[in-house]
Amino acid sequence: MNTEYVPVNPQSPDSGVIARAAAIIRDGGLVAFPTETVYGLGADATWSRAVLRIYEAKARDLSDPLIVHLAEAAQVLDYASGLPPLARSLAERFWPGPLTIVLERGPLLAPEVSGGRSSVAIRVPSHPVAQALLRAAGRPIAAPSANRFMRTSATTAVHVRDDLDGRIDMILDGGPATGGLESTVVAIEGEDVRILRPGAVTAEALAAAAAEFGSAVAFGPASDPGASPGTMAKHYAPTAPLIYISGDPATSAQRLREAMAEALARGQSVGALITDAERGGLQELAGRAFFGSVGPADAPERVGHQLFRALRDLDSQRPDVIFARTMGTGGLWVAIDDRLRRAATTVLT
Ligand code: TXA
Ligand code: MG
Repeated sequence: MNTEYVPVNPQSPDSGVIARAAAIIRDGGLVAFPTETVYGLGADATWSRAVLRIYEAKARDLSDPLIVHLAEAAQVLDYASGLPPLARSLAERFWPGPLTIVLERGPLLAPEVSGGRSSVAIRVPSHPVAQALLRAAGRPIAAPSANRFMRTSATTAVHVRDDLDGRIDMILDGGPATGGLESTVVAIEGEDVRILRPGAVTAEALAAAAAEFGSAVAFGPASDPGASPGTMAKHYAPTAPLIYISGDPATSAQRLREAMAEALARGQSVGALITDAERGGLQELAGRAFFGSVGPADAPERVGHQLFRALRDLDSQRPDVIFARTMGTGGLWVAIDDRLRRAATTVLT
C-alpha cells in the first residue's frame, strides 16, 4: 500500500486536505493525525473491518483496546450507554483535552474497539487537526498512538512514517504533537476516580475536580485485572535495552553518571537521556556517549514534549544500552516516570 504523506497547517488545516482524509476514514481506511498528546492512527470506530485494520497495521494484540475520539462531549451518550455524574463533571472540566474516560460501550460502536470488554475508552481531543478530521468524517474515530505495538509513541509525522509507512493510507503532518505524552486514562469506580494510565492531565488536577464531588483519586490497575491492559509492564520501548535508575532525583543523576562510566569501561556504546543542566557534568564522557536532552529539569511539560523524540533519536544511534533516571516527582513527572519504567528492560531502585 502507498502511504500518502500530506503536510497540513496545525492551526487552521486546509479543508480540502481534511476532506480527503475524512473520505479515507469513511471508506474504512487508516489516517494518522496529530493530537494535543501524540499522533493517533485513526479509523471509523463504528465499522469492525476498519477497526481491525488498526490492529493489523500496528501488529497490536487484539485484546488491547483502543481509544474512541469524538468531536464533542455532547456526542458521548450516542456511543456510551451511560455517563455517571462524576464522569460528566470530569468531561465538562477536561474536554476537549487529554483525558480519556472509560465508560460502558454503546451499540453503535464496533465491539473490536474494546478488545473483548464491554467498556470503551472515550476522549474529545482539542487539536485543530483532530477536531477538523472528526467533524469532516462525521464518525467517531478509534485511534491508538500511531506507532508499532509496544514501541515508543509517535510524536511527529516522521516517527509515524518510520513505523507505519506502507501499512496505512495517509499521514497528516501537522508538526510535532503538542503535548508529547499520551492522555490520562481514568475509570469511575463507585464514587471514585481510578487512574489506569497516568498522562497529560495530572492526578493533582483530577483530585481537585473530584473533590467537588467528595470523591477521591486512586492510582493503579482496576480491581478487574483485564480492565487496563495498556498498563502492561513492557511498552513504549526503544530497540536498545533501557536501564532506568529510579528513586530520588537528586541522587539518581549521580548514579546515572556512575552507571554510564561503568558501561563505557566495559566497552559498551552508551546513550543517556538527560536534562539540559546535566550536560556540563557529563562533558568528560562526550564523544564516547550519546546524549538525548529532554529540556530543563524544572519544566516537566517541556520534558514530556521531548521525551519520546529523545528516546527515538537515541535509539537511532544504535547504542548497546540507554540509561535514564528519575528526573522529578509529582505532577506531570508521574506520567514521565511511568513511561520510562515501562520502556525499561531493567529498573534499578
Ligand atoms: O493520548 C492518547 O491517549 C493517544 C491519542 C492518539 O489519543 N492515544 C493512545 O492510545 O495513547 P493507545 O491505544 O496507545 O492507548 C490506549 C490506552 C491503553 O492504555 C488502553 O489499555 C487503554 O487506553 N484503554 C483503552 N480502552 C480501554 C478500556 N475499555 N478499558 C480500560 N483501558 C482502556
Ligand atoms: Mg500506545
